[in-house]
Amino acid sequence: MSTDKIRQLKQLREKATHGGGLTKIEDRHKHGKLTARERIDLLVDEGSFEEIGMFVHHRSREFGLEKYKYLGDGVVTGRGTISGRHVVVYSQDFTVFGGSLSETHAEKICKILEMAMKNGVPVIGLNDSGGARIQEGVVSLGGYADIFLHNTLASGVVPQISAILGPCAGGAVYSPAITDFIFMVKDTSYMFVTGPNVVKTVTHEDVSFEDLGGALTHAVKSGVAHFAVENELECIEGIKKLLSYIPSNNMDDPPFVEPHDSEDRMDIELDSVVPENPSKPYDIKEVITRIVDDGGFFEVQELYAQNMVVGFARLGGYSVGIVANQPSILAGVLDIETSLKGARFIRFCDAFNIPLIILQDVPGFLPGTDQEWRGLIKHGAKLLYAFCEATVPKITIITRKSYGGAYCVMNSKHIRGDVNYAWPTAEIAVMGPKGAVEIIFKKDIENSEEKEKAIAEKVHDYTERFANPYVAAERGYVDEVILPHETRPKLIKALRFLENKVDTNPRKKHGNIPL
Ligand code: HXC
Repeated sequence: MSTDKIRQLKQLREKATHGGGLTKIEDRHKHGKLTARERIDLLVDEGSFEEIGMFVHHRSREFGLEKYKYLGDGVVTGRGTISGRHVVVYSQDFTVFGGSLSETHAEKICKILEMAMKNGVPVIGLNDSGGARIQEGVVSLGGYADIFLHNTLASGVVPQISAILGPCAGGAVYSPAITDFIFMVKDTSYMFVTGPNVVKTVTHEDVSFEDLGGALTHAVKSGVAHFAVENELECIEGIKKLLSYIPSNNMDDPPFVEPHDSEDRMDIELDSVVPENPSKPYDIKEVITRIVDDGGFFEVQELYAQNMVVGFARLGGYSVGIVANQPSILAGVLDIETSLKGARFIRFCDAFNIPLIILQDVPGFLPGTDQEWRGLIKHGAKLLYAFCEATVPKITIITRKSYGGAYCVMNSKHIRGDVNYAWPTAEIAVMGPKGAVEIIFKKDIENSEEKEKAIAEKVHDYTERFANPYVAAERGYVDEVILPHETRPKLIKALRFLENKVDTNPRKKHGNIPL
């Protein structure tokens, strides 16, 4: 081959790596941001990245755009490996027209989404874009719609992870929103449908970019983001860690990681985690970390709806998804936000063959006009629906309260819980003893001369009779009452038994989850 041809290719490659130019790259660095390619280098195994579409450029002739062509057209796409597992990646390049999305930029993203679906590999999108390329008009909008369709078709087939590393505004937010997990970097990323200026015009609210759509806003208030991280490096590490718990596609199993922990380990401290006084809180995360392999728990949506805790861990080396009520926040009550958080997490685990471990200590659903008027019925139904339709192995441990509808919802035996354990501290009943007594013994109490004493006696009787796990165990609704310190080995044995579980739902186009 002539040296000219070799030189030409080398020059083109070199040019492509400069994106929108060295000055713009320096400007990125000055603002503490990495370039699209630097981000990919940190994400994938060294030397594993194979770029696709490096020489693609836009086709637009509007507004003199034909004079400004950049190789790659504002997005670096390709395939690589993370810890030896194949992934596809796109990384938007803000140095090229602000990372804005053109027709060809969209085509590149759709191409790797198709590759991911055909080959069963996860998709990682590193988003940093000014949105639709304004000069291309509707062609760019069409590009977004093409991506939304691909994201939707890939949903439940391969995991899709989005990192927001800069602006993400307007309709552009809907691609990450359709994906499974969103990481946002504090202070440098934002997501909103309409920005502060439009908000000011329409609603007269004065709001900053950060308050309207920053990482913490979405991690704490809206629940749009699953992770709010300090910087880009933490974001990349977070993506890798998340991937370590999940399979590459819906036909695959999650990676096995040999634990340092013994499968038979019993933690005697667990026997005293639940306080004697049923009104006293305790931290369910302590229970989780004492049970799982090496105390490792990767929490998802840590800052949102904290009265429920969800996340990934391992038991005997296998990934599990944990869904737990959190008694230390609002007594672990179920409300709209926890229902949404739980349902989405359960559906992800079910779609990707990750068994579910449910830790239950819940006084019921949150009463009040706010909840009722905002649709607690339909949102709570999402959680119920998600548990009902899930066919992965599902194991429940009732640590304390299991009252009312919440008993049914939190993976009871009746909705296909495979193994249902209760600790001796479990209280399984229609409602708490005091409330129950005040209703069923209302007349007796009213007619009593010493009301307080009468209530106390009845509460004692009711507690003895119903606020325990044994009535449910008599019926077989609880398979076994276990000592708290036995929980880890019991769970691992149950998971081993359920390893080849097959359960199906009736054939249908799709269900109609109450949205
Ligand atoms: C074309 C764009 C662009 C865009 C930015 N640029 N956004 N070019 N289309 N959407 C270009 C700028 O002209 C500039 O080019 C370079 O990118 C960097 O932009 P700056 O404004 O200098 O950067 P910064 O100050 O950091 O501000 C970033 C920004 C701002 C906040 C993203 O650029 C901005 O507001 N852009 C417009 C955002 C927007 O309204 N997009 C459309 C959203 S609606 P030069 O050559 O000067 O370096 C949408 C619809 C999607 O996306 C619908 C899907 C259904």
